Amino acid sequence: MKKISLFLTAIIICTGAFSSKKDLKEFFDPARLAEVGVYYYPEHWEESQWERDIAKIKELGFTFIHYGEFAWAMFEPTEGVYDFAWMDRAVEIANKYGLKVIMCTPIATPPVWLTREHPDILIKREDGTTWDHGARQHPSSSSDYFREYALKLVDAMARHYGRDSRIWGWQLDNEPRTALDYNEGSHKRFRVWLKNKYGTIENLNKAWSTAFWSQVYSDWDQINVPQMNGLFTNNHMILDFQIFSSDEIASFLDEQTALIRRYNGGEQWITTNYIPAYEEGHLRKSKELDFHTYTRYMVYGENFGIGRKGYRLGHVERIAMANDFFRPIDGVYGVMELQPGQVNWGQINPQPLSGAMRLWLWHVFAGEAEFICTYRFRQPIYGTELYHYGIVGPDGVTVTNGGEEYRQFIEELELLRKKYNPAKTENPEGYEGRRTAILYNYENTLGMEHNKQTTEWNTLGHIEKYYNALKKFNAPVDIIDESGDFSKYKVMVAPAYQQLDRDLVARWEDYVQNGGNLVLTARSGHKNRNAQLWEAPFGEPIYKLIGAKIDFYDLLLPHTPDNVVMDGKKYP
Ligand code: GAL
Repeated sequence: MKKISLFLTAIIICTGAFSSKKDLKEFFDPARLAEVGVYYYPEHWEESQWERDIAKIKELGFTFIHYGEFAWAMFEPTEGVYDFAWMDRAVEIANKYGLKVIMCTPIATPPVWLTREHPDILIKREDGTTWDHGARQHPSSSSDYFREYALKLVDAMARHYGRDSRIWGWQLDNEPRTALDYNEGSHKRFRVWLKNKYGTIENLNKAWSTAFWSQVYSDWDQINVPQMNGLFTNNHMILDFQIFSSDEIASFLDEQTALIRRYNGGEQWITTNYIPAYEEGHLRKSKELDFHTYTRYMVYGENFGIGRKGYRLGHVERIAMANDFFRPIDGVYGVMELQPGQVNWGQINPQPLSGAMRLWLWHVFAGEAEFICTYRFRQPIYGTELYHYGIVGPDGVTVTNGGEEYRQFIEELELLRKKYNPAKTENPEGYEGRRTAILYNYENTLGMEHNKQTTEWNTLGHIEKYYNALKKFNAPVDIIDESGDFSKYKVMVAPAYQQLDRDLVARWEDYVQNGGNLVLTARSGHKNRNAQLWEAPFGEPIYKLIGAKIDFYDLLLPHTPDNVVMDGKKYP
């Protein structure tokens, strides 16, 4: 918990060898509790308005500003010719008003000249069509050319800003997501990835069970990325394609991070802003990033929340669970985007309930985030995001209701800072005894999606059920993966942990023998890591742990609920 006395709850693709990561705590003064900032796109507005806008950002109490995210065409108007002068002016105004700057690498929006010269940089979909210039997030992380070219820009940016003390830290790309890409580079890189994973084609044939339906390969070059919509495509192959695709995101981010670190010597932090898409696998995979941040939108008309007006508030676990997923990764995390009001991209775009923005801010704070950034300062008056709220409205000056809630939160935070007491380190009574881990591995989620056995199965819904129950006990929860230290937790829930190996089972046995309380749920331990059933009695690896054996499995239809009888007692 935060220490406050008021208790509230080829460019050369280099590795990190050049400079090591700094102790993260040095970037964030604990006495500040949290910093609050906002996105501003100088390139969207007349330069004559920049100072007026930035002065307003300062006046509202924000302490940092977020720049550059999609500005590649302005940073590199023609090939190899870089222009940072305009951004320098924006950085200097921020500095004049005492605002720290988060600088972004605008990888999601390559300039049109690059796309037209090299259409091979575009993501190709399964149906053979490609994405194109005119939107964003259309370039392929599996295109070697795109990687090389993007890294040239990152190099130029890092050369320019990597030693600039006005820059607090870096955000790479925007909401990187696992794209299932059919670009030629994807086929090529998939083969290399498989070779690294399996070593020999025989091993691959075994892991993919290619004797089934005559799918045997004799050479790596025969392998293409699999069709997701093929007629009963090999599910082991699909799983590998999905894991590969998330590795592609991670390795590209790592290449960018290592490059920037060469220049900044670890003096500015480096992160990216992930959507908490827990099933996609790229989250927490990048090893070079200093820490991770997430983006969260709570009200977008599709999420009904709780009660008649719940749709104006959003589901509570959307923030809580993201806090508990991101914080344990590096012990430090931030929230890069939180909506200041209505969005434009939902099916229906309602106003959040009055007070909702402030509530979300406090929920993020309770998760111990080091900073919270809102998207965005000015409501756009053109472009794809028309109707998206800002901290100020379309006139550029009138503070919105959301903006006022930010102002209020910042003022309240200032009061709380006065109560900061570094000597106060103990948690409330009973807190430690409730410390719980949820063990999560996205490969299980993907593996189960391929063999659901019932349309009623929803992996993330199943996990949320346990998460919400834990929160009702006021349990502090960390969502961890297998690299975590199990012994830190009195309780560990491993929901639907379908794919495992005997080493994990041995670790669990050890955990339990040392007093840990392990909760296993439906679908546990059915499969090995390649998502194949064990050549053993069904689910046999966990028999010792559960003190039982599994004779058979069964599935009910939704309209026929039934009971299980155990020791003479019926359970619905
Ligand atoms: C986010 C995205 C931002 C902006 C925002 C609008 O998902 O990262 O760039 O588009 O949505 O709500």
